[in-house]
Amino acid sequence: MLESWTRIPTISSLSYPRHRPLFYFLGLSFILVGLYYHFIAPTSVVTRDEVFDTPTPQLPDRIWDERAAQVRQAFEHAYHGYEQYAMPHDELKPLLDKPIDNFNGWGVTLVDSLDTMLLMGLDDEFTRALAVVDKADFALPKNQFAPFFETVIRYLGGLLSAYALSNNTVLLHRADDLALKLDTVFNTTSGFPFFAVNTVTGFTRGPQLGILAEIASLQMEYTYLAKATGKMQHARRAGKIIKALSEANLDRTGGMFPVRWNISSSEPYDSHMSVGAQADSAHECKFPQSESKFPQSEMIRDGS
Ligand SMILES: *[C@@H]1O[C@H](CO)[C@@H](O)[C@H](O)[C@H]1NC(C)=O
Ligand SMILES: *[C@@H]1O[C@H](CO)[C@@H](O)[C@H](O)[C@H]1NC(C)=O
Ligand SMILES: *[C@@H]1O[C@H](CO)[C@@H](O)[C@H](O)[C@H]1NC(C)=O
Repeated sequence: MLESWTRIPTISSLSYPRHRPLFYFLGLSFILVGLYYHFIAPTSVVTRDEVFDTPTPQLPDRIWDERAAQVRQAFEHAYHGYEQYAMPHDELKPLLDKPIDNFNGWGVTLVDSLDTMLLMGLDDEFTRALAVVDKADFALPKNQFAPFFETVIRYLGGLLSAYALSNNTVLLHRADDLALKLDTVFNTTSGFPFFAVNTVTGFTRGPQLGILAEIASLQMEYTYLAKATGKMQHARRAGKIIKALSEANLDRTGGMFPVRWNISSSEPYDSHMSVGAQADSAHECKFPQSESKFPQSEMIRDGS
């Protein structure tokens, strides 16, 4: 054991002189590569102007049409699989051809796909999905709770975006119905939503600390719903949250919104920040909102 160990060459025994040309070669290569990247290689940092000033390639319409047809085919392949094996459940397990309910069991795939069907002109699929939506009661067993954030971005957002594209009032009524069934989720002193709510009993669930994305990603859905229904109460839910966020003391984070918030006091909990997971969708929803101070009141006026 000891003997074999002693035979392992040490750095100094690596016969440096014999490999001298190799060392020179590697050193020179290193310097040349460094010079290339420093002076010659195109920079990989794309500026904002480069992105926005680059004209769309002038391709013949035929090529765009072919590409659109391929995208539509891919959607049809996936969606017809869902229709055949999983509808009206939430999702298809594609290797088992079995359904699975991970999002309240109200058919999240079909609701989330309504606007895509409209954009792609898939009227038959849309009509079939609409029949399921029309019958949805958004019920849950007593011991099950709808995660508020997921339910808003997938179901409420899916219904409202399809309504915006179609003006089909079935979609708007279902969206209003769903929002009312979720409404006790805002029963906190701050108006920040709880993590989850039962749509039948109104009981809520969740920790006292909330995640920025889950607290503040309802802005577009709730203000648009208020505008489309004329019901100011939906906009008030969204407005109260934006107001609390804009009045929060952000000294610890230099004016930035941290990820974790106390949903009772509407105060920032710590100074951990993110523009990615746990925060991103809140920033997306908030920035269009903050252009003027409370645009929702103007939206209501326009819409009523
Ligand atoms: C929906 O209604 C709006 C407002 O009346 C109108 O501008 C839009 O063209 C309609 N869209 C469809 C698809 O009917
Ligand atoms: C709202 O919260 C209060 C205080 O926790 C509670 O007494 C009340 O029952 C709740 N209301 C609903 C509709 O959940
Ligand atoms: C949240 O705020 C409430 C009210 O100010 C306070 O009683 C509670 O301790 C806070 N919770 C946490 C986890 O900081």
